[in-house]
Amino acid sequence: KEWTREERYRVLKSKDEIAPLYEINKVSNYRQKFHVQPITGLSNDPNGFIYHQGKWHLFYQWCPWGAVHGLKYWYHVVSKDLIHWENEGVALAPDTVFDNKGCYSGTGISSHDQIYVFYTGNHRDENWVRKPYTCVAKLNEEGKLIKKDTPLFAPREDYTEHQRDPMIVYVEEKQKYFIFIGARSNEGRGTALVYSSSKLLDEWSFQGELRVKGYEEFGGMWECPCLTTIGDKDVLIFSPQYTKLPGRGECTNHNIYFVGKMDYDTLTFIPDTHYRYLDYGFDFYAAQMAANVEDKNKGVMIAWMGLPDNHYPTEEEQWEGSLTLPREIFVEGDRLIQKPIAGFTKLRIKELSGRVLPSLVELEVKCDGHSSDLRLFTKKDGSDGLMIHYDSHYKMITVDKSQLDKRFNEEVFEALDIPLDEDLDSMSIFIDQSSIELFINDGKYTFTAHVYPTEEESYFDHDEHLDIKSYELCSSVDE
Ligand code: FRU
Repeated sequence: KEWTREERYRVLKSKDEIAPLYEINKVSNYRQKFHVQPITGLSNDPNGFIYHQGKWHLFYQWCPWGAVHGLKYWYHVVSKDLIHWENEGVALAPDTVFDNKGCYSGTGISSHDQIYVFYTGNHRDENWVRKPYTCVAKLNEEGKLIKKDTPLFAPREDYTEHQRDPMIVYVEEKQKYFIFIGARSNEGRGTALVYSSSKLLDEWSFQGELRVKGYEEFGGMWECPCLTTIGDKDVLIFSPQYTKLPGRGECTNHNIYFVGKMDYDTLTFIPDTHYRYLDYGFDFYAAQMAANVEDKNKGVMIAWMGLPDNHYPTEEEQWEGSLTLPREIFVEGDRLIQKPIAGFTKLRIKELSGRVLPSLVELEVKCDGHSSDLRLFTKKDGSDGLMIHYDSHYKMITVDKSQLDKRFNEEVFEALDIPLDEDLDSMSIFIDQSSIELFINDGKYTFTAHVYPTEEESYFDHDEHLDIKSYELCSSVDE
């Protein structure tokens, strides 16, 4: 379907308007059962992820009308355990002059026991000229976000129109709040613009650019910057765009991280080592760490399972997108370790035997250290499927999806490598209706991808170097 601008930016006036689409989307075989996904239409970035008074609040970028990046809302979901999620409805709608063409991504903070979210008001004038404002809203007792009347600040004129995705942090030593805004300079360089204030809701002033030592020229736009502290390390995450990176095929959108130290006097982040990919998969972007996590030695992260510019087979069914599983994050040296949320095992229904792959399944794979092959979503005769090959000589895993019936984004990449520093020991694999997530060697490497298996593609196969236990899982999200 070709979308006109009018169709993409249509304003949602009442829930009833999307009821027919809801009925269509709901019956798709690819609707996820234990991942957050769009109620209708399209979801992209996670937003405002925060723990508050016993509940996890999460929002996602949402376009109600179909599988298209049009007018964006914040849709709200909540959870007590990061496993079961309930739909709460629209949280931010583009209903002011400052956000007339979309409530874009942002983050949350809890201050004096209240939750505030900071987001980008994507304003466009009658000539479609964009002016991205940094805006704030407060979560009230009824769980509704109430916007402040005026933005905190307007975009800077000495940068391009690409200034968005406020990341808010409170810096104890300075007794100040800082906001980082992902930006693209006039020369096409990616960066983040830093603002600070000792009040949360006003008196914001521009401080300068964030400098990441050794990465003064890197990428063309840093979407969704995210800065957190885990234990005694600072972790900087962002999604660099308009650039190709090694081992990432033709893709020009990525999600990377650095472990290091943030110096707020010089606005410099000093990485311990080079950047790393946050995830090696085909579909992973705009990751956000939750605010207010009680245990200071761990983070909780969630990301968009998808990439800007990519297209997915469910476009035919007028919807697309999913978030990843939330993951517990630990720092080990200069690396992040990602684990499925503790307690996720409670979704296990029963242990399976044989080579049948139900649509919701967890596989526990042990490797004896030799080169080995695992094929998921094969046909009954064991042919085709998603190939996961481990080469023990090069210590390299290759994931190849080109033998699946439903192919997509072939021009970007269909096979990717995961270079390991050590032998392959184990993989935990989580399969939902249209996704697969691999946690390799206890979470040292992860691989996230959409897959859209057909009815015949419901078996798996592997060689003798792998030992596999499989568990059928149950559903945990609101429909
Ligand atoms: C990243 C992004 C953000 C923006 C949002 C709009 O995927 O482009 O930079 O705020 O999505 O939906």
